[in-house]
Amino acid sequence: MFVTASLADLPKAEQYRELALQARALMEGETDRIANAANMAALVMHSLSDLNWAGFYFYDGTELVLGPFQGKPACLRIPLDKGVCGAAATTRQAQCVADVHAFPGHIACDAASRSELVIPLFHQEQLVGVWDLDSPIPARFDAEDQAGMQVLCDIYMHAVYKNK
Ligand code: SME
Repeated sequence: MFVTASLADLPKAEQYRELALQARALMEGETDRIANAANMAALVMHSLSDLNWAGFYFYDGTELVLGPFQGKPACLRIPLDKGVCGAAATTRQAQCVADVHAFPGHIACDAASRSELVIPLFHQEQLVGVWDLDSPIPARFDAEDQAGMQVLCDIYMHAVYKNK
């Protein structure tokens, strides 16, 4: 297993190119959704700067339940009508929130969080969960981060659900 080095000094496009390569290598031949989720959270948290939380919530048919993550302990369950995660799940759109304090219903798991990016995950149009990133820096995430994280989520979903 290779050791992840910080990619923080590279231009964003290269950060995401490198992250995608590493994510593919880490998930190669593994379909377990927990194992791959755990490594994706560790990969991203240890590669990028200015993140204080990176992880998954999985949909259990009723609400979003905490999955593998890196960061401080977080809320266990998020109803679909609550928070940035719930908004991503119900609108089926990624949520890129520059100022979480201005987002109605934002759930503050870590008081340090100031901005957030949430990518919803679907398999055959069914909600699987969300991939959630928090930053202590306002407006940490932009369209390039959203696109780059979408690619990582696609790699994750392909690893877990290919042929299914
Ligand atoms: N802030 C999220 C809750 C999850 S934590 O950020 C880990 C939300 O509002 O849905």
